[in-house]
Amino acid sequence: MMHMQSFIAHRKLFAEKMQNGVAIIPTAPERVRNRDAHYPYRFDSYFYYLTGFREPEAVLVIVAATGQAPARHILFCREKNVEREIWDGHRFGPEAAKEIFGFDEAHPLAKLDELLPGLLSDQSAVYTALGQDQNWDQRVVGWLNRVRDLARTGVVAPRGIYDYRPILDEMRLIKSTGELQIMQHAADISAQAHQRAMQAACPGMREYEVEAELLHTFYRHGARAPAYTSIVAGGANACVLHYVQNDAELKSGDLLLIDAGCELDGYASDITRTFPVNGKFTTVQRDIYQLVLAAQAAAIAEVKPGNRWNDPHQAALRVLAQGFIDLGLCLGSVDGVLESEDYKKFYMHRTGHWLGMDVHDVGEYKQQGEWRALQPGMVLTVEPGCYIRPADNVSEDFWNIGIRIEDDVVVTPDGHELLTEAAPKTIVAIEELMR
Ligand code: GLY
Ligand code: MN
Ligand code: MN
Repeated sequence: MMHMQSFIAHRKLFAEKMQNGVAIIPTAPERVRNRDAHYPYRFDSYFYYLTGFREPEAVLVIVAATGQAPARHILFCREKNVEREIWDGHRFGPEAAKEIFGFDEAHPLAKLDELLPGLLSDQSAVYTALGQDQNWDQRVVGWLNRVRDLARTGVVAPRGIYDYRPILDEMRLIKSTGELQIMQHAADISAQAHQRAMQAACPGMREYEVEAELLHTFYRHGARAPAYTSIVAGGANACVLHYVQNDAELKSGDLLLIDAGCELDGYASDITRTFPVNGKFTTVQRDIYQLVLAAQAAAIAEVKPGNRWNDPHQAALRVLAQGFIDLGLCLGSVDGVLESEDYKKFYMHRTGHWLGMDVHDVGEYKQQGEWRALQPGMVLTVEPGCYIRPADNVSEDFWNIGIRIEDDVVVTPDGHELLTEAAPKTIVAIEELMR
């Protein structure tokens, strides 16, 4: 876990960027799976980024500094409760939470309705994630109306209603050294999981048995959840981009595409590797694999400060388009294939996304209509692929080959660094590991 000072620093910077007003930031609600069983709990990313606090039923209130008054960081959380703690386990309670997590104040969650109108009184603005949760929106409106009701006593209600997310998105986009350390650790665990999967996979196994090997490595190293549902897709299933059924039998001669990464301390990793179920690539598989690998290398080479978000994607497209022409999958010139977007028959997604607390992390991709410039501290995935479904005008040799290669890349002052280097990627390395 990151040092508590990092979370406090995030709060301080956020309070400065708000300039004035009050931000009300709830963590995620618990979700019922069926009757009294819940889905595994995952805190809200914005809330966690500002608190480090993992319990459900908590709200952070930040009052920006005004005049002589410094900013206030206030936590509302569950009270200590002997009975509930016997059933559900430890809870910090406001007193301990205030000390341990470094808040200026902490109160029982049950006091939220009582205290918020006072906190909002005579403030110029309220910051909330309007539209994220209708019930929550209603509560915020309720607090605002209670302040408005006090108008004749001279109290002024906030006039501005702003979204706190754009401010936090820009902060979250640039990762600190502490965040990068966690992301490296998460990536190492995931890389090890992919190695284990390669060593375990063999014809006759079910996809979910390989998924179990991934989860084994995640859990063994303290990453208690995948960052997203693992894709374990043998043969034709690899051509289904969001395949998560993971229950088919693996066949000799097929490829296995695995897109899986763990979440560690709130940070995601996201790796895809594709390898032969029987440990040996066929000639055709080899040709397509080398093409995707070359496209990925070209894309990764474009990850450096000053280059634009879209540059890696364009580099990958150019290599793939040339490859599709060479293999007879597309006709004409590279520029022609790029212009007509004929490549989309075999490569229909983009080449990456921001990565951080959320696997598809926050942060704008364009600014003032232009693809944004890459800056040190940004983390992105680079994940070109090729998916060939059976079609009349495609040689049968290529049918049902689905390949994607995905790595997590940090922008550094000099260029980039790969977080996921430890997951074998060349044909030689994969075949050797599987031998
Ligand atoms: N695993 C989700 C993605 O690659 O975007
Ligand atoms: Mn990805
Ligand atoms: Mn992925």
